Amino acid sequence: MVEIDPERLLQDLHALREFGRSGPGVVRPTYSDQDIEARNWLRQRMEAAGLQASIDGVGNVIGRSPNDGPALVIGSHSDTQPRGGWLDGAMGVIYGLEIARALLADPATSHLAVDAVAWADEEGTYSSCLGARSFVGELTESDMAECNAEGESISSAIERAGLSGRPTASFEPDRHRAYLEAHIEQGPYLEEQGNRIGVVTSIVGIRGIRFQFSGQQNHAGTTPMKRRQDAAVAMFEFGHRLQSEMAAVASPTSVWTTGVVDVEPGAESIIPGAAALTLQFRDADDNVLEAMQNAALDLARAMTGESPVSVSGTPLREKITPTLMAPELRDHIGTAADALVPGAWVEMPSAAGHDSMVLSHHLPCAMLFIPSINGISHDFAEDSDEDDIALGCQVLANAAVSILTELQ
Ligand code: GLV
Ligand code: MN
Ligand code: MN
Repeated sequence: MVEIDPERLLQDLHALREFGRSGPGVVRPTYSDQDIEARNWLRQRMEAAGLQASIDGVGNVIGRSPNDGPALVIGSHSDTQPRGGWLDGAMGVIYGLEIARALLADPATSHLAVDAVAWADEEGTYSSCLGARSFVGELTESDMAECNAEGESISSAIERAGLSGRPTASFEPDRHRAYLEAHIEQGPYLEEQGNRIGVVTSIVGIRGIRFQFSGQQNHAGTTPMKRRQDAAVAMFEFGHRLQSEMAAVASPTSVWTTGVVDVEPGAESIIPGAAALTLQFRDADDNVLEAMQNAALDLARAMTGESPVSVSGTPLREKITPTLMAPELRDHIGTAADALVPGAWVEMPSAAGHDSMVLSHHLPCAMLFIPSINGISHDFAEDSDEDDIALGCQVLANAAVSILTELQ
């Protein structure tokens, strides 16, 4: 078995944290200057590791092994949420780099091929899992017109970042035989159970609905309460009633979030004439997602009948179906975990989205989790124990060697 270098791993992880660092957290949204600088640095680190490294036409950093296939692709994303943690995505990227270089440096494994990768825009600053979708040919011309919150399209951002005209990396079915991704859990379960490693069984499906509330804009002083058609009041009532309507059809592990709200025109002395709310909901079962969607849309119809404000809901185009991880790959990770931390690992579903959910429709995928301290993620306070970071990389490296040996 190969030995990863924990110190080198942590050094690179801390170096990546500096690109866009803000206190303990990181602000490195896709195609920001910090994101592009980090990608250039990653390319150099991959090259120094003996990989043939390049940044492709959507920003994916690919470090291709000099060895012929069969190859494993190992990595994650290097972009962050608008106010993100230092490990979400970054840890899996540096694992890919460390595993590829540890394998190449060891005569016993130097013939094995690992292609390390840092995908672009998993977090959806422009479009979720943009880089992974491009890699498997799922990114269409019309997708390139999608915009970030400031209204900049993907194509313009790519041009601004100096990436236009570059070839895009593509999945090579004869070479790329499986994808492995490590990630922090981003939830509380491993820590609560005292487990050190999670082997992911499935990734939740994710859907969204944008609700629009249409009332009548008017003067906040002169309009009597009973004459008002206040879109914001209707939105607040909708948001409140939604909790019980969703709970009535949800599974014990369903989650839902109203993370984006807008009120128009947003002035103290104007009764809002329009409002909007985005509902995101997740479950591992597509039937439950369908029931949750129907419950939310039924509530919108019911409220339109009851109040002077009309409510309408439009399901968002990006709909992610629940995805299973490949059982044969999971077994390799489970065996590797059991050898290093017997009894301290567990199979578990992922409630967060990952690039694996896109890639798994094209090649077998598996994921490994390590514990998140206090279960906090998508926040500057996100952190994990350095011993767990090192352990997870060694487990994934051992699993990679056993998978590649079997594929030879
Ligand atoms: C990914 O970051 C997610 O929100 O699940
Ligand atoms: Mn994330
Ligand atoms: Mn992530």
